[in-house]
Amino acid sequence: MKKILILDFSPRKKGNSAALTSLMAEAVTASGSEAVCYAIRDIDVRPCKACGACKKKDVAFCAQKDDFTAMMPLLDECDGVIAAAPIYFGHVPGPAKCFVDRFYGFFNPMVDHPLFTVKESKKLAAVMPCGGGDPAAYEPVAQWLGGAFRTVGVTETKSLIENGLNDLWDDGDEKRQALAEKAKELAAWVVE
Ligand SMILES: Cc1cc2nc3c(=O)[nH]c(=O)nc-3n(C[C@H](O)[C@H](O)[C@H](O)COP(=O)(O)O)c2cc1C
Repeated sequence: MKKILILDFSPRKKGNSAALTSLMAEAVTASGSEAVCYAIRDIDVRPCKACGACKKKDVAFCAQKDDFTAMMPLLDECDGVIAAAPIYFGHVPGPAKCFVDRFYGFFNPMVDHPLFTVKESKKLAAVMPCGGGDPAAYEPVAQWLGGAFRTVGVTETKSLIENGLNDLWDDGDEKRQALAEKAKELAAWVVE
């Protein structure tokens, strides 16, 4: 059974990211895989302090104790990641950047520490709802996110970027229904 880590980086509980990650979690579970879901707005992940402790032999990953501590083994052992991050000022929202900065603990690790074994060949589905911007202009942001997740074993990234999504999720909205189908297809790609 594959384990898929699903992250929602939007601050909006009933936003498009929340609805899409929930649909994708259902698709993952329906395929017989395990979906482990976190809304980053509900947990405490503080910025990297650049303390350098993660480069010391006796420190596994990151010395800072907050909710990222429980994330580290999950990031390591999962088989794929679905990350929804709305576009804010042309990039990911602040909490998403804080989150990936904490991957520094995985970067150039002390390879002789057993906890530093990172599973490779993971897929990342980058789901990026946006407002008025051109979705094609944000593809580099999705690929940037894939590059950051490379640190935790992601080798392939596919994006789902859709604009006109400033309003909260509405099940009756035709545009959103079509988007839901695309999201489920992308979830199927992550677990295949
Ligand atoms: C602070 C802020 C900055 C934003 N910047 C952009 C932007 O640069 N380009 C864009 O197309 N949409 C932008 N938006 C719109 C959001 O990307 C859009 O509403 C998105 O669908 C929100 O996702 P959510 O429903 O998952 O919260 C911005 C919204 C906020 C709150």
